[in-house]
Amino acid sequence: MTAQIIDGNALARRIRAEVAGRTAALKARGVEPHLAIVLVGVDPASQVYVKHKANDSEQTGLKATLERYPADMTEAELLARIRALNDDPRVHGILVQLPLPKHMGSQKVIETISPAKDVDGFHVASAGALMVGQPGFWPCTPHGCLKMLDTIGYDLKGKHAVVIGRSNIVGKPMAMMLLGRDATVTICHSRTANLKAHTLQADVVVAAVGKRNVLTADMVKPGAVVIDVGMNRNEEGKLCGDVDFAGVKEVAGWITPVPGGVGPMTRAMLLVNTIEAAERAAR
Ligand code: GUN
Repeated sequence: MTAQIIDGNALARRIRAEVAGRTAALKARGVEPHLAIVLVGVDPASQVYVKHKANDSEQTGLKATLERYPADMTEAELLARIRALNDDPRVHGILVQLPLPKHMGSQKVIETISPAKDVDGFHVASAGALMVGQPGFWPCTPHGCLKMLDTIGYDLKGKHAVVIGRSNIVGKPMAMMLLGRDATVTICHSRTANLKAHTLQADVVVAAVGKRNVLTADMVKPGAVVIDVGMNRNEEGKLCGDVDFAGVKEVAGWITPVPGGVGPMTRAMLLVNTIEAAERAAR
């Protein structure tokens, strides 16, 4: 079997077009949806990411302001700036790019963002809302993965999903979203004993460890859906995921590529959360 590819670029394009329509509708009512992006320090990867986020926003019609602060900014100064953004009715979404410099407490910084503007979905209130099924903001990466399952018309009810990786921003929220769709969910991590025994049972595998070849062909049930959240580099410096794509695509029914899979979906879902935040504020 050769798996069908779930094209993250194509789906993200469709989602951006939807967001552009919602943005135009809000602007027609005199509201300009606005994402504030805060970058502290000069981490090279973060600089690229924030530029992408700002460009994506502007191309969709959303206003984005990118605030850059020096690495020696104090935590108190950052918290004060976040509180000012919380209080600014012209700002609908606030994103503080991670990682922050070591002298800052990331969780404390995240908890200072108003849950109503937490478009990353990292606030403890957002995590709690997801857990209990209340409206909130879902973290962009797992939400993008769920959209990819939706786009192939996959009915999760009664299916067994295995999530490999237990981070607060991907693995755990992913598991909650899958549970919310009536799937049976197993959360594993890279050192789970006999990981293969778990993944071989799975109708859906989400790999989110951040290590190459976490999932190989011998670990996948024929026909399973494989979602690859990883972003790694191989020996040649080329972008690759957590899944041995060449091998697994011969066994799986559906598979997401890297690049061109979950990555563009994560970026698209930030736009969805931002327009959602602006719409809620305008209600
Ligand atoms: N750093 C890497 N990924 C992310 C993300 O999705 N949001 C934020 N705020 N920082 C990140």
